[in-house]
Amino acid sequence: MAVEKLRKEETLEMRRRLIGQSCRLFYSDDPVKIVRARGQYLFDENGERYLDCISNVHHVGHCHPSITAAAAAQMDLLNTNARFLHDNIVTYADRLAATLPEKLCVFYFVNSGSEANDLALRLAQQYTQHEDVIVLDHAYHGHLMSLIDISPYKFRKLAGQKEWVHVAPLPDTYRGTYGEDHPNPGQAYADTVKDLIEEVHRKGRKISAFFAESLPSVGGQIILPQGYSTKVAEYVRSAGGVFVADEVQTGFGRVGSHFWAFQLHGEGFCPDIVTMGKPMGNGHPLACVATTVEIAGAFTANGVEYFNTFGGNPVSCAVGLALLDVIEKEDLRGNALRVGAHLKHLLTKIQTRHRVIGDVRGVGLFVGVELVTDRERKTPATETAARVVKRLKEEDKICISTDGPWESVVKFKPPMCFSMEDAELVVQCIDRILTDMEASDS
Ligand SMILES: Cc1ncc(COP(=O)(O)O)c(C=O)c1O
Repeated sequence: MAVEKLRKEETLEMRRRLIGQSCRLFYSDDPVKIVRARGQYLFDENGERYLDCISNVHHVGHCHPSITAAAAAQMDLLNTNARFLHDNIVTYADRLAATLPEKLCVFYFVNSGSEANDLALRLAQQYTQHEDVIVLDHAYHGHLMSLIDISPYKFRKLAGQKEWVHVAPLPDTYRGTYGEDHPNPGQAYADTVKDLIEEVHRKGRKISAFFAESLPSVGGQIILPQGYSTKVAEYVRSAGGVFVADEVQTGFGRVGSHFWAFQLHGEGFCPDIVTMGKPMGNGHPLACVATTVEIAGAFTANGVEYFNTFGGNPVSCAVGLALLDVIEKEDLRGNALRVGAHLKHLLTKIQTRHRVIGDVRGVGLFVGVELVTDRERKTPATETAARVVKRLKEEDKICISTDGPWESVVKFKPPMCFSMEDAELVVQCIDRILTDMEASDS
């Protein structure tokens, strides 16, 4: 049992005083103080258990004993940096390579998704000798200045769009220009990127990279239409650019059927650069960039060393290796597939009773429920989504969050050990809350 050092009110008062207020808390009106966790469960200072539908970082379950043991054993033995020759970094890179298409065979280890995306940007610009970047609307790729610049989700609230950044429409077949009823939404959305490239060329500029999450999560748990990525890659490469897949949220088997979400986009599709982070170390700061021999070669050719103090250290790599073992041993991809399908089925069933549920979408344990005040106009039901999240926490001890441009998508991204019973419980609770809200609103 964890020992609590401060009363909750004291922790909160110190947090307000000592920690920058732009670092926000979940449930800021009445935050939860979590003192320990296991699997998909969080425990507060009173021993109250919360079901965790938020923590995609704690991929194989909070405080998994195999991960803890691997980290402790390596920490006890050695923790140098990647300038010393060591087995862990190469063994780990080799294991990661086995999950990726053959051409993605060179790795750079870093400490966060932001570091990975910043390096991806450097690699792309160095290899292509072009500057400009195309990103999807509402995207978020990290907190460094370089990434705020390519994250419409952030730069729209700040200094605005840089001249080297170009925003393509989010290929959202629920509320975007081309819906499910379009004969080929993948091609239609890819053509918007083609048009954008032509516009960039007319300005005398050149594309270095197209950057996108393989499943846009911050954009609202979006499933890209079939054929989109393949076509975009073709257009971007013929403009001399590279395709960067941000797998920071979606990688490591979350989609169930595949290890990487970009693999959902078809056998023949392969990005030029893949960035990974969050789930990679189960909470330990571990992230990575995978790329091709040619791109890595161009980066080496600039003659400047890439040194990252903590990236790829023996402890991080031991943690990463242990995580890969757990995914396999516990068949967590199979679990994501089965539980995710059940969850989607249950949510679709309650959609027939609640008009506020506009759309249910997802793959594996990457699921979104989009709430709307009116199904025809698809007006975002932001307030309802916030009320559902609050009531789930207060009445049912379930932690869940919202996302999307209007915070109207209730987002499931739980640890991969999430069970059938967990899925049933959450859907039952959402059903009860919506029924109750409909009764009191009528
Ligand atoms: C899609 C995506 N890319 C990159 C990042 C940045 O990762 P980090 O917070 O580890 O720097 C995030 C973080 O939320 C993310 O969601």
